[in-house]
Amino acid sequence: MRHLLEIDDVTPTELERIVHLAEQPSADRSYEGLGVACLFEKPSARTRNSTEMAVVQLGGHPIYITGDEVGIDRRETAEDIARTLAAYHAAICARVYDHSVLDRMAALDVAPVVNLLSDQAHPLQAIADVLTIRAELGTVEGKIVTYVGDANNVTRSLALAVGALGGTTRVVAPPGYQFGDLDVDRLASAGVEVQFFDRIDDALGESDVLYTDTWISMGQEAERDERLRAFEGFMVDGAMMDRTVGPDGRRAIFMHCLPAHRGEEVSAEVLDGDDSRIWPQAANRLRSARGVLSWLREVT
Ligand code: CP
Ligand code: NVA
Repeated sequence: MRHLLEIDDVTPTELERIVHLAEQPSADRSYEGLGVACLFEKPSARTRNSTEMAVVQLGGHPIYITGDEVGIDRRETAEDIARTLAAYHAAICARVYDHSVLDRMAALDVAPVVNLLSDQAHPLQAIADVLTIRAELGTVEGKIVTYVGDANNVTRSLALAVGALGGTTRVVAPPGYQFGDLDVDRLASAGVEVQFFDRIDDALGESDVLYTDTWISMGQEAERDERLRAFEGFMVDGAMMDRTVGPDGRRAIFMHCLPAHRGEEVSAEVLDGDDSRIWPQAANRLRSARGVLSWLREVT
């Protein structure tokens, strides 16, 4: 049985297949008469709506379940929840605080498990991101995606997806917020190219995409003051965009997984300006979810 907890759960060829499925208009109704569990321990606008609508497009029936309702490892174990949901559903999609909960559910092989965001990874976002880069720039191969900010769940999945399709990711983060050794090893063993920078200006040249995400991910709210101090000078603003020019002299596009915080990690002028591709990127979340769910029916 196959699962998608992180981008490196699939080979580059499989990722290309998922991207292909996502990009094509589809008459796939392979979830006809089937349920898909959509379990959320954290809030969501894009992921919940795009996943539920992807299930509907594929002929299935999504059931939204809150973390409070099932109480993962409080009301019953993650394993018992997975076994229960697998009795009714063709797949278990879940957004969790602790990535190991997804590992434990997937290890049972009772239903395909899809990560809808964990503290470690956000693969459906990364697939939407590469769909956006392909739509905007024609290809991911040979492109440089520069991520400025907190090296987090979104960054990790983005780097793996961009790398699997032949692009390079640059990550610029302040001390303490860069990827650790484990990440560097994992990225290397996936064979993807990632470059690390401390100084923003060193990373901007020849970048095709400038990407950022919140400095305070869900679950890190208690660290807010400390993080705002650490990320001083890291806001993507108009002056930074002006310095971010691709190898062909073209201005970089700006991407953000959303939700965004104007005046923190990105200025309003950039987020809402001409370089921004945040709305096509958000729209691609539906294609991403549909591509992954279709692919799971092909391989399961
Ligand atoms: N980008 C993203 O995952 O958004 P939501 O948290 O609103 O689902
Ligand atoms: N890094 C953010 C992404 C939100 C979609 C978080 O985990 O909260």
